[in-house]
Amino acid sequence: MDDPPRSREALIYAGSALLFTILQAALGAMAVIWPTSDAVLATHFGISLIAFSSTWLLSAWAKRRVLDNGKGSIRRTSYSRIPASIFGWTTAILVYCMGVVYLGAYIRHTQSAGGCIGWPLCNGELVPELTNATGPVFAHRLGAVIMLIAVVLLLVLVRNKTEGNKELLSIAKLSVALVVTQVLSGWLLTSTLHNEDVYVFTSLLHTIIISALFSSLCLLAVRAKQMSSRR
Ligand code: HEM
Repeated sequence: MDDPPRSREALIYAGSALLFTILQAALGAMAVIWPTSDAVLATHFGISLIAFSSTWLLSAWAKRRVLDNGKGSIRRTSYSRIPASIFGWTTAILVYCMGVVYLGAYIRHTQSAGGCIGWPLCNGELVPELTNATGPVFAHRLGAVIMLIAVVLLLVLVRNKTEGNKELLSIAKLSVALVVTQVLSGWLLTSTLHNEDVYVFTSLLHTIIISALFSSLCLLAVRAKQMSSRR
């Protein structure tokens, strides 16, 4: 028989995936029917990200469930001493990440990727003149560097505050690996800007990695919350 609270958890993930996919489709349809601003179009990406992450959370839940069933009970390994601050910081980073994502999607919809040529310098300068397309692209890069630092600090926090909780530590490590790859894929994107045939793939890579990164951070937030409330 199903364990009711855990089934409720799965229903929330499945319901959220359904809701945000419908929202995504509705926004897409509205954009085709009515003229839609670039700012509104850029929110499209954030909605798809939530739908994707909900599915990721559902699959992680199912995996945990299989492991639990294998043991015939709910696992209770090292759930003690998980401070609420892990959940708080991860949620703050997720909100911040949405800002960086929004800027990236804004660049895509306004076709302003050429605003910064070169990497790590932007148009040969550490801080360029922020005119036209350069402003959002430079802000996106700056946002990416801050995000990289934030996720590394989160790993340090998880390592120091969870007394070696293996599950949280491995999700935090995966998040660091993904944020590093995300920044590197941004560099790849920039260096293929003038080759349309390759750019379509580097752009896709950038999109795939952020989907995994956002989902990984969502999973960290959910697991940290569950473990801290079981103290
Ligand atoms: C944590 C770091 C980063 C995140 C979360 C992020 C996220 C995103 C997202 C979500 C998009 C929109 C994709 C789409 O609409 O299909 C995007 C676009 C873009 N990003 Fe990033 N990005 C990051 C780092 C970087 C870096 C370091 C660079 C440059 C060196 C960069 C350059 C770009 C460019 C040029 C675009 C526009 C792509 C296009 O027009 O197709 N990104 N980014």
